[in-house]
Amino acid sequence: MTEANGNPNQSRPESAENTLTNRQGHPITDNQNTRTVGSRGPTTMENYHLLEKISHFDRERIPERVVHARGAGAHGVFEAYGKVGEEPVSKYTRAKLFQEAGKQTPVFVRFSTVIHGGHSPETLRDPRGFATKFYTEDGNWDLVGNNLKIFFIRDPLKFPDMVHAFKPDPLTNAQSMERFFDFVSLSPEATHMVTFIFSPWGIPANYRQMQGSGVNTYKWVNAEGDAVLVKYHWEPLGQGIKNLLQKEASEIQATEFNHATLDLYHAIERGDYPEWELCVQIMSDDEHPELDFDPLDPTKLWPVDQFPFLPVGKMTLNRNPEDYFTEVEQAAFGTGVLVDGLDFSDDKLLQGRTFSYSDTQRYRVGSNYLQLPINAPKSRVATNQSGGQMQYKVDRAPGQNPHVNYEPSSLGGLKEAPKSGKEHEPHYDAKLVRQKIERTNDFGQAGETYRSFEDWERDELISNLGSALATCRADIQERMIGYFTQADADYGRRVAEAIRQAGGDTKPQGTGADPSKADSKGHEAGPY
Ligand code: HEM
Repeated sequence: MTEANGNPNQSRPESAENTLTNRQGHPITDNQNTRTVGSRGPTTMENYHLLEKISHFDRERIPERVVHARGAGAHGVFEAYGKVGEEPVSKYTRAKLFQEAGKQTPVFVRFSTVIHGGHSPETLRDPRGFATKFYTEDGNWDLVGNNLKIFFIRDPLKFPDMVHAFKPDPLTNAQSMERFFDFVSLSPEATHMVTFIFSPWGIPANYRQMQGSGVNTYKWVNAEGDAVLVKYHWEPLGQGIKNLLQKEASEIQATEFNHATLDLYHAIERGDYPEWELCVQIMSDDEHPELDFDPLDPTKLWPVDQFPFLPVGKMTLNRNPEDYFTEVEQAAFGTGVLVDGLDFSDDKLLQGRTFSYSDTQRYRVGSNYLQLPINAPKSRVATNQSGGQMQYKVDRAPGQNPHVNYEPSSLGGLKEAPKSGKEHEPHYDAKLVRQKIERTNDFGQAGETYRSFEDWERDELISNLGSALATCRADIQERMIGYFTQADADYGRRVAEAIRQAGGDTKPQGTGADPSKADSKGHEAGPY
């Protein structure tokens, strides 16, 4: 926004610069009256301005993100500490953005809610997306995370089913807790995430006062090609962390359903810049048989007493977008977008995600989405890729022979870059299988998380689960109570009691999944 107060109605001086034109650059002298045969019409087909205006309007929308459709974004800067905790960062990674203390890298962050559409309330119980694009000197790095540190599932094959179950019913177009818990009660690995989501941690007060996490396990690679496993976490600095009770969220939603977008926008406009510290947890790159979980399992936390949070830098968001569509809607983040010194782990969910993001963006934004200013690296881009809809420049290097759009070539084309360190070359020796990981341990950490909550958080969790599960079939309730009981006997007992108090034990078996047989509660949108 150019105006300090962001007021779009503030009058601007007349000048040649603000004369209206069409997209061909023709000045528009009459934007109120279509050219017609006489003042009463009919309208003629040669009205270029009318046709351009209406046909552009007809195409103003692009497909919304299939998940995380509602979002808000801001620009800022990441400043490296040059160390990881007390050690030099180069011991673990050669990624240039982290090396020197005080080194600044521009960033763009998009926050989001996950399940509902582009203008849905920002008060809903849902994970929050926290996607950061670092425009580094070595090209872009995207850290595509959420506010919570874990996820519902660990195998990417389950993701489309999970999203279908959580999104509105294909028949009624309303979200249903019965469909949600139907899926979750047959996916025990979701018990830990459900414990967070139905607690106050499932409704962050806004986008500034929440944490972020990469969730998946990545690798850091040093100059020798040695790797460690890492998890990334964003910790809010001055603004702190704040979550909402369901009652508080409902009160906000009654008068304002854009509160998180506006909170971020106004904080930045008034110079109250939100800041987060980027921390990593580090583990040696092996299977860690001593742990009761697999380090590559995104449904698990890495215990902080064994794997402490080590600060590596600080991010400040200090500039609002100038146009929502250009920057926030067209922004495209993906887990495949890493720079030298950062690598993937074998986390299956991460690998499934890595296919999905650029695939959907070639459809959602278009095959040349990386040429848009919000997505283009601020470093040099030189490729032999060209063509496709909406290309507006060639990725040509200065001095490159314009006849050569292939590699290798002896005629002055692009050359491979020199290696910046030894390759990290993990060794594999295993059968190709379809199998779960061995240490699933679906309930242990769910119980620890339940016990770690403060009393008011636990009370809220129980009350939220009770009212949501009361709308579900009895067999779904029973499976969920079974999971909660395996996590912690008190947890299971209290949820069962809360369902009874919410009237849930009156539901007959066999209703619900088929809406024609459901009772009136079966398909109401729940609080999620
Ligand atoms: C957005 C797929 C898991 C965080 C998206 C989008 C897709 C997708 C297709 C829309 C992207 C776009 O239109 O630009 C998947 C798949 C997953 C998965 C297939 C699992 C197999 C996760 C997990 C997290 C996450 C575990 C959290 C760490 C996000 C975020 C966005 C997003 C933050 C919004 C990015 C933005 O602001 O543009 N995901 N996702 N996703 N996903 Fe995932």
